[in-house]
Order: sequence, then structure tokens, then C-alpha cells
Amino acid sequence: MSHNKLNEIAKNLSKPPKGILAADESTNTISKRFNDIKVESTDENRRKYRELLFKTKDLNKFISGIILFDETIRQSTSEKVPFGRFLNDLGIMPGIKVDTGAVPIAPESIEKVTEGLDGLGKRLIEYKELGALFTKWRAIIDINEESRIPSDYLIDLNCSNLARYAKIVQDHGMVPIVEPEVLMDGAHSIEKCYEVTSKTQKLLFKKLDHNDVNLKGILLKPNMIISGRKSPSQASISEVASQTVKCLKENVPKDVPGIVFLSGGQSNELATQHLNEMNKSNEEKPWNLSFSYGRALQQPTLNAWQGNDNKISNSQNALFKRSKLNSSATLGKYSEDLENSNYE
Ligand code: 13P
Repeated sequence: MSHNKLNEIAKNLSKPPKGILAADESTNTISKRFNDIKVESTDENRRKYRELLFKTKDLNKFISGIILFDETIRQSTSEKVPFGRFLNDLGIMPGIKVDTGAVPIAPESIEKVTEGLDGLGKRLIEYKELGALFTKWRAIIDINEESRIPSDYLIDLNCSNLARYAKIVQDHGMVPIVEPEVLMDGAHSIEKCYEVTSKTQKLLFKKLDHNDVNLKGILLKPNMIISGRKSPSQASISEVASQTVKCLKENVPKDVPGIVFLSGGQSNELATQHLNEMNKSNEEKPWNLSFSYGRALQQPTLNAWQGNDNKISNSQNALFKRSKLNSSATLGKYSEDLENSNYE
């Protein structure tokens, strides 16, 4: 696929008023989510749940692409239409998570490196046949000042793998979403989050360059610059927005067509408000700023569903609502009143 085509896909995936739905939870992760709502994690229940998401009426007005997990891209609707084809027919681009998860960097270490480069090319050929147009790889970087992490070694390893992944994916004619996630789990300050995120993004773009990755054909999926969840001092919405844009301007070249944030454990409303605040400001930004949320789109959907066939339409209304509100946030047009409108 030509460089122009990759650029077009990356631009369209991140272009307001649309964003991405991350529905690529591994079997392990979705099982935890199902456990919270007392639903058994069988392949049929996972298929049914993903079908419910994908069949949400008018989702394609707000959602440009959906990231799938290996199991899901091999599954079909109840009418036996493979999910990849079903989404492509709706004008929603199917994507695929291609990393195989994170493992400790040493037996005693709490730091983890994301794996999945072995055999990646072969898997990509198959995913393409199943309809995927783009891919995702997530690296996680944990902050814990007492344990003196993250180490430089960890950041280096994860950025090297992200860059090599991006190169292999582009060589197979697909768009790589490059996701270095600095976790918000700790008690650290927003300043610490800025420092670690900035250091990571700097190194990442250096490695992407070394690997000859075409920046016009990638998307960056970063964390926002935010206080650690356990920090006693939580930064305001305007501070999160301004620090996030500042960090991106410092590190992300203009050639990158779009930035699609992860929600990372923020509340549904805050994830929307932060994105809105960034898009509301008149400040010049060279890239599209949109979303690629997992939890902040799906949490209300799962809660409304509870595994009950009679609640499918309530659950789809919940997904429709958060997708619409985040779509408004890509335009800087969200307001809290919209939370109370009727979405049935
Ligand atoms: P969250 O929005 O729940 O952080 O998920 C996004 C994602 O794809 C993580 O890899």
C-alpha cells in the first residue's frame, strides 16, 4: 500500500467528529470486566457482547474505527457475517491489537516489556485478509517513585519494540497505532507524569526515525498528562488539557496526522471533558486530536447490559451516548448539559 494511502487511513481514523472504539481486550481482561457484572466469559458471550457493540445504530456517525482482539476478528454476527466484513460494510474501519501482552523484564522486576514481534509479519497477512486496516501495540510504563521506576532500560526496550512493530506493520501496508501508556495508577504528581511522558515520547520518535517509519502513516495513542490516581492533589481540567498539549507540541512532529488518546482509568465524564478542553482552545495544533477509548466508552455499556438479552438496547444507548459526547469533544462542543439529554 502506498504512503499516501496509509496517510489517508490515519487521517480518517482520527478526524473529528470521529474517534476510535478500543474493543480489543484480551480474553483475560474482558473476563475481568464480565466478572464485575457477573457474566460468564465464554466465547459465545464474548461474541454476543461484541456484536451488541458493533450493531449499535448510527455508531458510524461518531466512530471511525474499532480495534479488535484476535478472537473477535475471527468471529461473526449471528447472521454469520464475519465481523471484519460487517464493520467495513458500515464504513467503520476494523483494526487489530497485535502485541501479545507484557512480561516482566527480569524475574524479580515489576516493570514489563510488551512482546509480540516474533511471527508478526505472518499474522499481519492473515489479519489483512480478515479485513483489518490498522493495528495497535500498547507498551506500559509504570511510575513508582519509591521503587525508582520507570528505569531508562524499560523505556528504551518498550520504545525499541514499538518502533520495530510500526516498521513491520507499515511494510505490510497497514497503519500502526503506537501506544506508549504512562499509567495513572500511582500517587505521583502531574509534573512527574509530564516528565516521564515527555522522556518516553522523545525517545519513541527518535527510534521511529531510526527505523525509517513514515510518520505520516502512524497514529500516536498517548496518555494525557494527569495526576496519579492516588495523588492527594488532582490537577484541574484546564491544567490537564494545557499540559497535555504542551507535552505533545514538545515531542510529536507535525507530520503525525493524529493523536488518539487512551482513557486509562479516568472517569467517563473526565475523559470527555479533558478532550473537549484541548479541542476548545484556539491554540494552533498541527495534528487531529481525538479518542481511542476502551473503558470510557464501554463501562456504561457493560453496566447497562449485565448479560441480559432484554437490556441490549439500553446498553447500545449507553454506547451511543458516550460515543456522541466524545464526538462533540473532538469538536470542542461538549457541555455538561449534554450528559442529561435523552439518548434513547
Ligand atoms: P482505555 O481507554 O480503557 O485506557 O483503553 C484503551 C486501550 O486501548 C488500552 O490499550
